[in-house]
Amino acid sequence: MSIAAIIDCDPGHDDAMAILLGARTLDVKGITTVHGNVPLSLTTLNARKVVAFAGLNGVPIAAGMDRPLVREAIHAPEVHGQSGLDGPELPEPAVAIVDEHAVEFIKRTAAEVDDLHLVPVGPLTNVAAALRRYPQLAERIAQISLMGGSLTFGNSTPAAEFNIWADPDAAHVVFTSGIPIKMIGLNVTRQVGATPERRAQVRRIGNETARIVAELLDFYSERLKKLFGLKGGSMHDPLAVAALIDSDVLRFEPMHVSIELRGEHTYGMTLCDYRHHEPSDIEAGGNGILRGEPANAEVAIGVNDDRFWELFLDVLTTYP
Ligand code: RIB
Ligand code: CA
Repeated sequence: MSIAAIIDCDPGHDDAMAILLGARTLDVKGITTVHGNVPLSLTTLNARKVVAFAGLNGVPIAAGMDRPLVREAIHAPEVHGQSGLDGPELPEPAVAIVDEHAVEFIKRTAAEVDDLHLVPVGPLTNVAAALRRYPQLAERIAQISLMGGSLTFGNSTPAAEFNIWADPDAAHVVFTSGIPIKMIGLNVTRQVGATPERRAQVRRIGNETARIVAELLDFYSERLKKLFGLKGGSMHDPLAVAALIDSDVLRFEPMHVSIELRGEHTYGMTLCDYRHHEPSDIEAGGNGILRGEPANAEVAIGVNDDRFWELFLDVLTTYP
């Protein structure tokens, strides 16, 4: 029985990969779109294009929040192009969005579907807004598997990863919600790149969807090579899907994660307490080690690159 999930995204090349992987491996109840890589109007158009070219008609798409809860909106056209999905010319989508805000869609689906999982792979504004509008929603969500943050380095800043930095207040709402969280951060996602060899494997699949995916990954990889010197575009977002479907892809450790909301240099950082202690181990006061907070997330600390690509390539063979 596959996991019931909503994919909340800001397509984005890697978001598109998450949708393609999730559509074949999860029971996708819907796709919700959020501001992020590009403005909401474009992330929503891109979600419709991905659903259309992959033949996923019937998956409802609901547009959500067009700006962060507090900070000003930021975007990343330098990574994904002005359209947010630059590279191959994709057909205008026939599929429309539903006439329901993403926050309402999440709330209604959670009321109707038991054991619902959320897979946010963009800024957490929709999830946070839904939790603030409907506090009882926290009891209806089984788990959140999110791409965001980092155990170590950032990408938008030395300390902060884009999805968190784009709306740190929303991330704070999610990480203090009490909902079980799997956090898949840059420290693992940067280890899974669409290198030329991987893109050749995609092309060898030989179907039209794989051809388009390879061209999307060509564009995305070139941008990340130019920006960060990477060998291949990081498969950030599909790893948040893989975390739910194949326990051999990622390794997790429970730890407390707090979101920096005020730091001059660390604003938007996911501060992960990786000190391997139980709060009770630390005598109160009188020593040089401050007691930590109980774990509020499972943070990915390792990834099996080959295992991910085996899964992703296998799923691509099922498309037209
Ligand atoms: O930092 C990587 C994340 O930011 C990915 O989700 C990518 O799509 C962008 O949203
Ligand atoms: Ca994304």
